[in-house]
Amino acid sequence: MMKKLATITTCMLLALSFAAQVHAVEGGNPKKGKHLYKKECKACHSKGDAAGELTPMSKTMSQWDRFFKRDMHKVKPDVFQNLSEKDRLDIQQFLYDHAADSDQPQTCG
Ligand code: HEC
Repeated sequence: MMKKLATITTCMLLALSFAAQVHAVEGGNPKKGKHLYKKECKACHSKGDAAGELTPMSKTMSQWDRFFKRDMHKVKPDVFQNLSEKDRLDIQQFLYDHAADSDQPQTCG
Protein backbone atom coordinates (compact mmCIF):
# COMPACT_ATOMS: atom_id res chain seq x y z
CA MET A 1 0.00 0.00 0.00
CA MET A 2 2.79 2.48 0.95
CA LYS A 3 4.75 1.51 -2.10
CA LYS A 4 1.81 2.10 -4.36
CA LEU A 5 1.23 5.49 -2.83
CA ALA A 6 4.85 6.41 -3.41
CA THR A 7 4.61 5.36 -7.03
CA ILE A 8 1.50 7.43 -7.54
CA THR A 9 3.14 10.43 -5.90
CA THR A 10 6.23 10.08 -8.07
CA CYS A 11 4.09 9.88 -11.19
CA MET A 12 2.15 12.96 -10.22
CA LEU A 13 5.33 14.93 -9.59
CA LEU A 14 6.75 13.83 -12.93
CA ALA A 15 3.56 14.81 -14.70
CA LEU A 16 3.60 18.20 -13.01
CA SER A 17 7.20 19.00 -13.86
CA PHE A 18 6.61 17.84 -17.43
CA ALA A 19 3.57 20.08 -17.72
CA ALA A 20 5.57 23.04 -16.42
CA GLN A 21 8.32 22.45 -18.98
CA VAL A 22 5.92 22.09 -21.87
CA HIS A 23 4.20 25.28 -20.86
CA ALA A 24 7.47 27.21 -20.74
CA VAL A 25 8.52 26.04 -24.19
CA GLU A 26 5.13 26.65 -25.76
CA GLY A 27 4.59 30.09 -24.31
CA GLY A 28 8.12 31.43 -24.04
CA ASN A 29 9.30 33.25 -20.93
CA PRO A 30 9.02 37.01 -21.49
CA LYS A 31 11.22 37.84 -18.49
CA LYS A 32 14.07 35.77 -19.83
CA GLY A 33 13.23 37.10 -23.27
CA LYS A 34 13.76 40.68 -22.17
CA HIS A 35 17.15 39.83 -20.76
CA LEU A 36 18.11 37.89 -23.89
CA TYR A 37 16.83 40.64 -26.15
CA LYS A 38 19.08 43.16 -24.43
CA LYS A 39 22.02 40.82 -24.61
CA GLU A 40 21.52 39.36 -28.10
CA CYS A 41 19.74 42.08 -30.07
CA LYS A 42 20.56 45.48 -28.63
CA ALA A 43 24.22 45.03 -29.55
CA CYS A 44 23.24 45.83 -33.13
CA HIS A 45 19.83 47.43 -32.70
CA SER A 46 20.36 50.36 -30.35
CA LYS A 47 19.79 53.98 -31.23
CA GLY A 48 22.25 55.20 -33.84
CA ASP A 49 23.29 51.70 -34.94
CA ALA A 50 23.50 50.88 -38.65
CA ALA A 51 20.96 48.05 -38.25
CA GLY A 52 18.44 50.54 -36.93
CA GLU A 53 16.97 50.90 -33.45
CA LEU A 54 14.56 48.12 -32.62
CA THR A 55 12.05 47.98 -29.79
CA PRO A 56 9.07 45.71 -29.12
CA MET A 57 6.94 48.53 -30.50
CA SER A 58 8.69 48.41 -33.87
CA LYS A 59 6.20 45.78 -34.97
CA THR A 60 2.70 44.51 -34.30
CA MET A 61 2.05 41.16 -32.64
CA SER A 62 1.37 39.41 -35.94
CA GLN A 63 4.40 41.01 -37.55
CA TRP A 64 6.63 39.65 -34.78
CA ASP A 65 5.09 36.19 -35.16
CA ARG A 66 5.72 36.29 -38.88
CA PHE A 67 9.27 37.53 -38.38
CA PHE A 68 10.14 34.68 -36.01
CA LYS A 69 8.36 32.02 -38.09
CA ARG A 70 9.21 33.01 -41.64
CA ASP A 71 11.92 35.65 -41.86
CA MET A 72 14.15 34.26 -39.09
CA HIS A 73 16.44 37.28 -39.43
CA LYS A 74 17.43 36.31 -42.96
CA VAL A 75 19.56 39.46 -43.43
CA LYS A 76 21.92 37.85 -40.92
CA PRO A 77 20.80 34.22 -40.44
CA ASP A 78 23.61 33.39 -38.02
CA VAL A 79 22.09 35.70 -35.42
CA PHE A 80 19.08 33.41 -35.03
CA GLN A 81 20.97 30.19 -35.73
CA ASN A 82 23.28 30.87 -32.80
CA LEU A 83 20.31 31.01 -30.41
CA SER A 84 18.61 27.92 -29.04
CA GLU A 85 14.98 27.40 -29.98
CA LYS A 86 14.04 28.13 -26.38
CA ASP A 87 15.92 31.44 -26.36
CA ARG A 88 14.30 32.48 -29.62
CA LEU A 89 10.89 31.67 -28.18
CA ASP A 90 11.59 33.70 -25.05
CA ILE A 91 12.67 36.71 -27.11
CA GLN A 92 9.67 36.32 -29.39
CA GLN A 93 7.36 36.22 -26.37
CA PHE A 94 8.84 39.38 -24.88
CA LEU A 95 8.59 41.30 -28.17
CA TYR A 96 5.07 39.98 -28.81
CA ASP A 97 3.84 40.89 -25.31
CA HIS A 98 4.93 44.51 -25.79
CA ALA A 99 4.27 44.96 -29.51
CA ALA A 100 2.78 48.15 -30.90
CA ASP A 101 -0.77 46.78 -30.78
CA SER A 102 -0.37 44.85 -27.50
CA ASP A 103 -1.92 45.72 -24.13
CA GLN A 104 1.42 46.99 -22.85
CA PRO A 105 3.42 48.51 -25.70
CA GLN A 106 6.98 49.15 -24.64
CA THR A 107 9.89 51.09 -26.09
CA CYS A 108 12.31 49.13 -23.96
CA GLY A 109 15.91 50.26 -24.27
C1 HEC B 1 25.25 41.33 -35.63
C2 HEC B 1 24.27 42.40 -35.65
C3 HEC B 1 22.83 42.06 -35.38
C4 HEC B 1 22.30 41.40 -34.30
C5 HEC B 1 23.05 40.81 -33.10
C6 HEC B 1 20.88 41.40 -34.47
N1 HEC B 1 20.54 42.03 -35.64
FE1 HEC B 1 18.66 42.31 -36.38
N2 HEC B 1 19.42 43.19 -38.04
C7 HEC B 1 20.76 43.42 -38.28
C8 HEC B 1 20.91 44.05 -39.58
C9 HEC B 1 22.22 44.50 -40.22
C10 HEC B 1 19.61 44.21 -40.11
C11 HEC B 1 19.20 44.84 -41.43
C12 HEC B 1 18.90 46.29 -41.22
C13 HEC B 1 18.44 46.93 -42.49
O1 HEC B 1 17.75 46.29 -43.25
O2 HEC B 1 18.78 48.10 -42.68
C14 HEC B 1 18.70 43.64 -39.12
C15 HEC B 1 17.32 43.62 -39.25
C16 HEC B 1 16.44 43.17 -38.29
C17 HEC B 1 15.01 43.26 -38.38
C18 HEC B 1 14.22 43.81 -39.54
C19 HEC B 1 13.93 45.24 -39.27
C20 HEC B 1 12.68 45.66 -40.01
O3 HEC B 1 12.54 46.86 -40.22
O4 HEC B 1 11.85 44.81 -40.33
C21 HEC B 1 14.50 42.74 -37.23
C22 HEC B 1 13.04 42.61 -36.85
C23 HEC B 1 15.63 42.30 -36.43
N3 HEC B 1 16.79 42.60 -37.09
C24 HEC B 1 15.50 41.69 -35.20
C25 HEC B 1 16.57 41.25 -34.43
C26 HEC B 1 16.42 40.54 -33.20
C27 HEC B 1 15.09 40.15 -32.56
C28 HEC B 1 17.67 40.29 -32.74
C29 HEC B 1 18.08 39.54 -31.49
C30 HEC B 1 17.71 38.14 -31.45
C31 HEC B 1 18.60 40.88 -33.71
N4 HEC B 1 17.89 41.45 -34.71
C32 HEC B 1 19.98 40.84 -33.57
C33 HEC B 1 21.81 43.12 -37.43
C34 HEC B 1 21.70 42.46 -36.24
